Amino acid sequence: MSKNKDQNKLWGGRFSEATDAFVQRFTASVDFDRRLFQQDINGSLAHAKMLAKAGILSADEETQILDGLEAIRQDILDDNFEWSIELEDVHMNIESALTARIGDIGKKLHTGRSRNDQVATDIRLFVRDEIDQIAELITKLQSALCGVAEKEAATIMPGFTHLQTAQPVSFGHHMMAWYEMLGRDYSRLLDCRKRVNLSPLGAAALAGTTYPIDRNFTAQQLGFDAPTRNSLDSVSDRDFAIELASFASLLMTHLSRFSEELVLWTSAQFNFINLPDRFCTGSSIMPQKKNPDVPELIRGKTGRVHGHLISLLTLMKSQPLAYNKDNQEDKEPLFDLIDTVKDCLFAYSEMMPAVECNKAEMYAAAKQGYATATDLADYLVKKGMPFRDAHEVVGKSVAFGIEQSKDLAELSLDELKTFSDLIGDDIFEVLTLEGSIGARDHIGGTAPNQVLAAVAVAKADLAQR
Ligand code: ARG
Repeated sequence: MSKNKDQNKLWGGRFSEATDAFVQRFTASVDFDRRLFQQDINGSLAHAKMLAKAGILSADEETQILDGLEAIRQDILDDNFEWSIELEDVHMNIESALTARIGDIGKKLHTGRSRNDQVATDIRLFVRDEIDQIAELITKLQSALCGVAEKEAATIMPGFTHLQTAQPVSFGHHMMAWYEMLGRDYSRLLDCRKRVNLSPLGAAALAGTTYPIDRNFTAQQLGFDAPTRNSLDSVSDRDFAIELASFASLLMTHLSRFSEELVLWTSAQFNFINLPDRFCTGSSIMPQKKNPDVPELIRGKTGRVHGHLISLLTLMKSQPLAYNKDNQEDKEPLFDLIDTVKDCLFAYSEMMPAVECNKAEMYAAAKQGYATATDLADYLVKKGMPFRDAHEVVGKSVAFGIEQSKDLAELSLDELKTFSDLIGDDIFEVLTLEGSIGARDHIGGTAPNQVLAAVAVAKADLAQR
């Protein structure tokens, strides 16, 4: 291992030899945590203002520090900032740049603060802002689903259990099932936000600080709801990241379910829907192919997000209080899961309004597989037969239909009557697909008017957000 002679550290005082070059590279996080530069600067601005308010910095020192930090922000935005791996992380890169720019006054910024509370503050600020963006993307997708559901409230498709035709349902109703899953994801996300939006700043290294700091002031400056309440916990807690990863894992599980359905539905065997060409790709060898790559990839990306949840849980497992360098490993999974979730939600919100239903194919598929058998049983029950007996009668009718290669609705009244003389000619409207879905006319049912009612409730909810 080679030695790095060019020491430029903010913590070099007690060291007599330079950091090994490998160790320098191995321990540095600047390549990824520079993504937190806005939050880092905002945190430092709040801290400097608080130090001035507490009389720890003079008004002139405060102004120089604030101006210096804003100038650094601009340099970074202009791509006019040299990130240095010797300075390890985003925090020390910015602090060094400040001192280089304004001189020794820059060295006062870190009074009463540690990188431990600094990084915890930065990540919380970052996660909070990302939560707000993810929440907006979920809302956008939910409102797209409402649009499809409204348009397709009376579009009939087979509903499945065990992926076998079960009962006819409205395509709009199916869309609103996805809407519900996303609604729960949304509420989990906002719940997580409450625990994210607390300020660890002031916990310093782990025990708090001897300066007369004002933690309420910095919390308020940064838009946090309150300061955190225990300094040891403040610098070591990454529960909020795990909660976000857990939210994201479940959201991705939901998107993987939608994706699986889109992949099935676009296949020649189902042919229920068309995805717009711009969301598909071709095959380099098979000219006829149009592949649903976007849903497939979203299904696949579920794996990396689930992996990040496990990474973060494992990262925290058995960590003694308080801060440990392990925590530096929180950022890459966190960043990647956030980026992945945002991309997938964006893709869905663009794709769904452009989905075209092949109504005739869906209708024909719903007619196969005796999807209205339960309706026949319910009909017999309404005429006085106990449900178990009706189940038996309909089972026999279906077996007969299979033998004759006929759907229940295609059997003659005489044929049907051989199974029960309770059957009259009012049976035929019951056995139609329209009759079947229309009869499920209660809250949460698939009747088109119920789907429209669910959409109306959903739109009102979305408007409240
Ligand atoms: N880069 C570090 C991290 O991401 C910052 C905090 C480092 N603190 C320390 N005492 N080494 O966690």
